[in-house]
Amino acid sequence: MDNTANHDALQQIIQVAQGFYARKDRAHDLDHALRVREWGRKLALEEGADITVVELAALLHDIGRSGAVEKTHAESSAGLAVNILLKNGYSEEIVSQVREAIVSHSREAGHEPKTLEAKIVYDADKLDFVGAIGLGRLFIWAGVQGWTLVGENSCEKFYRERICSYRDHLFTKTARTFYDPLFLYMEGFWQQFHAERFKISDSGQADSR
Ligand SMILES: [Fe+2]
Ligand SMILES: [Fe+2]
Repeated sequence: MDNTANHDALQQIIQVAQGFYARKDRAHDLDHALRVREWGRKLALEEGADITVVELAALLHDIGRSGAVEKTHAESSAGLAVNILLKNGYSEEIVSQVREAIVSHSREAGHEPKTLEAKIVYDADKLDFVGAIGLGRLFIWAGVQGWTLVGENSCEKFYRERICSYRDHLFTKTARTFYDPLFLYMEGFWQQFHAERFKISDSGQADSR
């Protein structure tokens, strides 16, 4: 495929993906997929991976989140992606690589990313959960889950237990380089958050949680 044909084909995939992402969970919507695609492109260029495989997998990696029929959303997304890509004329080889990357982008199914492209899609997905964008997504996701800001089942708990541990699980050096400043920004937010709570509490107005 030349560049124009590749661009047109990707636009077609974005259009199809949009239909799957049009739902109430805005933490995993088309914008998330588009940002993961951009992160994926950056990482793929730096790490020497197949950009088409990474872009396709990034665009489709969460399409199975709503109405998942398979065991996990990653497996469900992978199954849907295979059908979409074959229908759109992608080769069996590309489709199989994209499938592998989608199925292993989340650890819930127990599939470890093995190919460089799968590792990059995994890392790109995690990079969209740090920094100011990560915070925004965290609060949207909290709304979906019914979480509070702090305490049990809260934004802060998810941040401390999940987001803080992402760095240890990133596969590429390039992703770790992007992660660090974004993580520091997020950590600064939580410091400010607790400083404000302490101040309110000092004047006797804070709740006791
Ligand atoms: Fe996902
Ligand atoms: Fe995702």
